[in-house]
Amino acid sequence: MTPFIAPSILSADFAKLGEEVNAVLDAGADIIHFDVMDNRFVPNLTIGPLVCQSLRDFGVTAPIDVHLMAEPVDNLILDFAKAGATYVSFHPEASRHVHRSLNLIREKGCKAGLVFSPGTPLTWLEHLIDDLDLILIMSVNPGFGGQSFIESSLAKIQSVREIIDKSGHDIRLEVDGGVKINNIREIAAAGADTFVAGSAIFNSDNYSETISAMKAEIELA
Ligand code: DX5
Ligand code: ZN
Repeated sequence: MTPFIAPSILSADFAKLGEEVNAVLDAGADIIHFDVMDNRFVPNLTIGPLVCQSLRDFGVTAPIDVHLMAEPVDNLILDFAKAGATYVSFHPEASRHVHRSLNLIREKGCKAGLVFSPGTPLTWLEHLIDDLDLILIMSVNPGFGGQSFIESSLAKIQSVREIIDKSGHDIRLEVDGGVKINNIREIAAAGADTFVAGSAIFNSDNYSETISAMKAEIELA
């Protein structure tokens, strides 16, 4: 699968969000990672469907990868589908009926993702692998940008790689949290194909150089 770099707009300058999104896309980003936090599921508060719609209205046509860190999820799924989301992912702890929520995402024309926090076991995949377009492994605890990559995530990524390969499905394996130029190669080697990076891109002086360096490292994996 072609590797995707997914800048997390959590670390962008929200006062000029449309321009920031265009800047990372011009710099070689493949999809835009959109972190939704509700001050309940996680102790932070960010953005909702109106902002997703605004980016579409601003002319952003790249895939938007919505990562819900909010509960409950079903109404948000409907709203984000209407607002132009491409992927919608949620944490299994945030839905009473995970299978129903995943299928709701697909019914509304989006790609469905399930997110695993560092402490969430992969057993959720046992009965849901046919219902997924994306599996997101969090390599930090959800809630904040700029945290350090949790090393034990690498083994978890390898396990998910095996599960996906065995399933024969076309499922993206995304990693989110503490991804940098200096660790992206080992994350790719563990089997990831989609790389979220917030602070590593938006806090860098040159988005294009940073994204190119990340892609070069992935090539070497
Ligand atoms: C954390 C978010 C991440 C965050 C990553 O809860 O899901 O997407 O923005 O930020 P960095 O890349 O700085 O760890
Ligand atoms: Zn995220």
